[in-house]
Parts: sequence; C-alpha cells; structure tokens
Amino acid sequence: MNVIVARNYEEMSQTASRMIEEQITKKPDTVLGLATGGTPLGTYKELIKGYKEDRADFRHIRTINLDEYVGLAPEHPQSYRYFMNHHLFQFINIDLEHTHIPFGKTEELEQECKRYENVIDRIGPPDLQLLGIGENGHIGFNEPGTSFDSETHIVHLTESTREANARFFESMEYVPTKAITMGIRSILKSRKIVLLASGERKAEAILRLIQGELDEQFPASSLKSHDDITLLVDEDAYKKVQRKG
Ligand code: GLP
Repeated sequence: MNVIVARNYEEMSQTASRMIEEQITKKPDTVLGLATGGTPLGTYKELIKGYKEDRADFRHIRTINLDEYVGLAPEHPQSYRYFMNHHLFQFINIDLEHTHIPFGKTEELEQECKRYENVIDRIGPPDLQLLGIGENGHIGFNEPGTSFDSETHIVHLTESTREANARFFESMEYVPTKAITMGIRSILKSRKIVLLASGERKAEAILRLIQGELDEQFPASSLKSHDDITLLVDEDAYKKVQRKG
C-alpha cells in the first residue's frame, strides 16, 4: 500500500487531480471510478481547473460511480447523480452518456443491481477508482459486515452513516434508509485504487486501515488484498498513525 501524506485538504485534492490527469493523458479512453461525499469535492474542482487550463481532455473517458441512494430520482438535489452533474460533469467536456451511476428511483432493485454489475464488467473495470472512507470504515456504501465477495447490492444504511450524511439533507427524516452500492468485489476489480481521507474525523479509520487486519467488520480493510492501492491523506487524517509510529 502506497501512502502519500499531503499537508492539507488543498494539497491532497491537487495531488489526486494530478494523478487523474496523468492517467487520462496516458490513456485518453480511461475508465474512471468516481466517488461522492465531501472529500472528493476539492479534487473535482481541481479537475475542472485542469480542463480549463487544457491539462485534461475528458472527451473519451467513461465514468462509473460507486453508489446511489434508493428512492431519489436523478433530479433530486441530494441524489448522487445530481451531485456528479453539478460538481463535475457539467463543467468538463464529458458526454453524459459516458457517465454511469446506479438508478435509485426504481421498484426493480435487484434487476438494477444486476444491470449495474454488467455495466462494470462491460465498460470497466475502472483503470483508476477514487474512493472516500466512512468513519466506520465503509467504502461506497458497504457497511461493516458486508461480505468481501459482494457485487452490486442493496444496503440498509446504518444510523451512523445516515447521521454523517444528514448534513446534506433538510433533516434526518429525509435521509434515505437504503442505497445501491458497488460491492467490495466489484470495487476490487479496479486496476488502481486511490483512497482519499481528510480531517481528524477520519483519523481513527485511517489508523485501523493501516495497522489492522483484513476484517469484514471494517470494509476498507479489504483494500489490503489489492496490489495497487494508494492512500492519499492529509496530515489531520494521518495524525493517529504518526502518534503511534
Ligand atoms: C458516503 C459515500 C461514500 C463516502 C462517504 C464519506 O457514505 N457513500 O462513498 O466515502 O460518504 O463521505 P465524506 O467524504 O463526506 O466524509
């Protein structure tokens, strides 16, 4: 596992964006695995800047997002489709037809999971997958206890994850209780994985990721079995590791 410790959030975001730009320059039809949440926002801002400054051309890339809330339509401001369109896609030269996100507003949830796993196999796997991490070690929406063998599936969100994400909603009651997420096995299909973490809130999870064993109760630990994983964190997220080491 490569570990890069950036001084702060800005430096972490710039480094992540440069890695993606290099990947796209090397392979213009790159498949990018993308994540939502507060953490990658800075990376997306930098990518938009990179596009404006002619460092990146997204015309031929395809994207596969990790997850989506069940019950939210793509136009819902808290849906992950809306998030990606408004924080990245609308500002770069990407064809929306080349962007893939699970469809959460359906009754046919099992069918949607199968369809999405097929998308990953047909279009992917991602050459580079960007990941965030939840305080409880979740990746995508794979909560503690998820099988490392899982493919795209429906999850019941834990109260702690709903609370952590409630800041984006009017109030807790509007936070969906279920989501569709790429499974652990689907995520591990990616050729290269870059996990971002920023801030003290993530320090315990980063400590456990670096020093702990493979453990289904801590989904991010599954990444330890992948042979090309980079942990790109800022000093605050790395704090506890340094204190012990
Ligand atoms: C959500 C997303 C994850 C993300 C996590 C952390 O649960 N499904 O993909 O990594 O939140 O979010 P944040 O970056 O806002 O801390």
